Amino acid sequence: MTERFLVTGAHGCIGSWIVHELLAEDASVVALDLNSDASRLALILSGAELAAVPFIEGDIRDAATVEGAIAAHGITNVIHLAALQVPLCRANPPLGAAVNVVGTVNVFEAVRRRSDTASSLVYASSVAAYDELEEGTEAAAMVTQPSTLYGVFKRANEGIGTVYARDFGVGSIGLRPHTVYGVGRDHGLTAAPTHAMLYAAAGTPYRIPFGGAIQFQYVRDVALAFIAASRAVAGDASVYDLPGQATPMKEIVAAIAAEASDAPISFEPNPLPFPSSLDGRSLEAVVGPLQHTPLASGVRETIERFRDLLADGRLAAPR
Ligand SMILES: NC(=O)c1ccc[n+]([C@@H]2O[C@H](COP(=O)([O-])OP(=O)(O)OC[C@H]3O[C@@H](n4cnc5c(N)ncnc54)[C@H](O)[C@@H]3O)[C@@H](O)[C@H]2O)c1
Repeated sequence: MTERFLVTGAHGCIGSWIVHELLAEDASVVALDLNSDASRLALILSGAELAAVPFIEGDIRDAATVEGAIAAHGITNVIHLAALQVPLCRANPPLGAAVNVVGTVNVFEAVRRRSDTASSLVYASSVAAYDELEEGTEAAAMVTQPSTLYGVFKRANEGIGTVYARDFGVGSIGLRPHTVYGVGRDHGLTAAPTHAMLYAAAGTPYRIPFGGAIQFQYVRDVALAFIAASRAVAGDASVYDLPGQATPMKEIVAAIAAEASDAPISFEPNPLPFPSSLDGRSLEAVVGPLQHTPLASGVRETIERFRDLLADGRLAAPR
């Protein structure tokens, strides 16, 4: 069967780059999002490319919408990203649970019901699914509980994957990104280092509200990892961390300063309550070698793109 991808949350940061990378290899992709604003996609696609992507304006809280999208387009591979991030889950927990947990069940159920075409489901979990870090510990574990409701919902998604494989034969792979950066990363708890790159490109000072070390993942690499995982789904359920290295915030700030030294970028010392790095080697054992853009190149590409977008008025200068 010819591959045809459905990306939920396609108008978000990672979704936009997955659509971008699928188009780059001439694959067939359908975008689904609650939000019809395609401005993140427009930052990385030409007008003609954007116009050629079939778009479904739909809410994953509605099971029939997801199933209908798969049926209408003969979808073979579903990449499920639609979710509310940490601040939105904190502000409205029932809505967070409805989108991040019930919405994910709806996506699994839709793949189960449309197994005539759909055979692959990859979904986004998160580093936030790991336990809250005890003071003085660093290792990622799943023994106690995550530190945020968002993390609790993401951990529930991983359990949903396990049970859907065992009880209904729906195979899936969950991926746990850490801190994604790049053009289009404009909101969420860990978007601040990308904000800093936009401010630096505009020549405006910026202070990142956290420090410590983070596993900093370039959005194009993350998109390619989701696509590779989508092609590796078997009948079982597995969840993998994404590869990368723990990078101290001072190295990230130095990489930004090396590309744009006009405005000072600084950071608060407090670390995030998540493990600073995860071990992605087991994912590469399953999907093959993944792209690892060096920090300096990813930051350069992002700041150059921001400069172009600011210059042609497609992004407003931050203040
Ligand atoms: N960006 C990161 O650093 C990071 C880290 C770990 C995990 N993740 C996970 O990866 C996925 C993608 O992240 P992102 O940064 O692209 O997020 P994003 O917030 O940029 O995009 C999410 C998209 O989902 C859409 N959406 C929200 N509710 C919806 C609904 N009810 N129905 C349909 N669409 C809906 C939004 O409109 C948005 O376009 C998410 O599941 C996120 O939790 C991201």
